[in-house]
This record gives sequence, C-alpha cells and structure tokens, in this order.
Amino acid sequence: MEGLADQIDAAADAICSAARGLAAKVGVILGSGLGALADRIDDATAIPYADLPHFPRSTAAGHAGKLIVGTLRDTGRQVVALQGRFHLYEGWTAQQAAFPVWVLKRLGIETLVVSNAAGGLNPSYEVGDVMLIDDHINFMFKNPLTGVNDDRLGPRFPDMSAPYDRALIELAESVARRAGFFCPRGVYVGMLGPTYETRAEYRMARRLGGDAAGMSTVPEVIAAQHCGVRVLGLSTITNACSPDQLSETSHEEVVTAAASAGKKLRAIVEAVVLLK
Ligand code: 6GU
Repeated sequence: MEGLADQIDAAADAICSAARGLAAKVGVILGSGLGALADRIDDATAIPYADLPHFPRSTAAGHAGKLIVGTLRDTGRQVVALQGRFHLYEGWTAQQAAFPVWVLKRLGIETLVVSNAAGGLNPSYEVGDVMLIDDHINFMFKNPLTGVNDDRLGPRFPDMSAPYDRALIELAESVARRAGFFCPRGVYVGMLGPTYETRAEYRMARRLGGDAAGMSTVPEVIAAQHCGVRVLGLSTITNACSPDQLSETSHEEVVTAAASAGKKLRAIVEAVVLLK
C-alpha cells in the first residue's frame, strides 16, 4: 500500500514537472480573503489542486484551490503559494489538512508563512490588526500526526515548545515598526468549526489564554514542526468577539475585513522572502 511518504513524493514530483527550475525556500499559505498576494506572483505557474496527486480539493468560499510557483514582485525571489487550504470542518482529516506542508518540505521549502482570518478574543484588538502568532491551543482535538509515524518525515513525539519562530516574529515586528503599524503577538486558538463560537465558548477560550480564534492553521503548523520547517503565523483580525461586545459574525464580513489587512501582510511576507 502507498504510504504517506509515497503520496508526498508523487505530489512533489508532479509540482516539479509542472514548474521546472523550482528552487523556492519560502512557502506561503494564503488564508480567507488574503489571496490578493497571489496576484503579485510574476511568471507564475498555477497548478490546480485537482491536478496534483493526493491533494484534497478545497470547497470553502474565497478559496480558489491552486498551488502557484513564481517570483514575488519587488523581491526577485521565487515562492510557492498555496491559494486555498483544507479545513477540518470540510470533513478532511487533520493529515489531509497538513498534507501540503509535507509536500512543501519535500520541495525544499525551509520557511512557511501561514496566514488566516481570525476572530479577536483579546479586547484590545481591532478589526484589520495582524496578530503575530506566538503560540497556539489545539481546540480541534485532532492531530495530523496520529497513526503510524514515518521517521523519514519527522519524529514520533515532536517538541512543541516553540513552533512559531522567534526570529521571524521579531522580523515582522521590525517591518511593522518601520512601516508605521503595530502587530500584537498572541495565542491562536484553533477551533474545529464550522460554527463560530458561542459567547460562553469565547469566554472560555479567552480565559484559557487565547487572543484570537480561527478554524485552520494548527494542523499545518504541527506538520511544519514535525518536518522541521520554520513558521511565521499571521492572523488577520476580521471581527471582534470579546464576549461582552459580541455581534453576529458572517463569513462575508470576515472575508472583507481580511482583504483590508492585505498591505500589512504584503510588507511582512516580502521581508520574510528577502531574508535569504
Ligand atoms: Cl470569531 N471564530 C472562528 N472560530 N473562526 C473565525 C472567526 C471566529 N473569525 C474568523 N474566523
């Protein structure tokens, strides 16, 4: 039977055949409403996930579902971008959600920028803020590493004391300072979804140390940590969900607000891509 490592190899081979000369060191996962960065990839080869062996197909609105290889404008550096990701609420397993990360590693990616839209639990956050993920709480209660471990991919019991790279957080902070905006550091709470939280759940997540809540990212970051890829996690705060000022949350509002933070994300991603 074909194991996970073979599936990863097959997907990576298909990408290499479609995008000759692939030598990118940075990967970017573009979250809800953040896809605009894909328009700044020049000489792009776009590969629909449907053409990639073992890739699930994303269904979420605002997620196009393709892998893009090309040069990020104003940097001269090649990147691999994932436009569209796989959420557990769509019914994918945590391993399927994390699968593209192992493929990126196989392609030679050393640094991964993961972006998402999230609700602000921290009452000091405003819509349009970009939170630098400092740590996470896995409230999905699913883990992409359950089952047999392939030691060629990574260890059975990965350390999780610092899955978000400190130096990249500091780089993002200095980019923000120079560009005249501020990015708070905070704890991302990964929820299963697809419902947004009740007020009691927001209160709980806040009391347990969360600053922002979302429905993605955690499986991907676990896989990155497993296979030794450095991560910068960026949460665009799309709605305030401090329990005492809670209004209704809609997906449209989330996508619109996410797009409004595009400039900040762009500045940070460019700096990471230029790093080496
Ligand atoms: Cl408020 N909660 C969750 N779980 N995901 C979100 C969100 C809230 N806002 C954007 N994504």
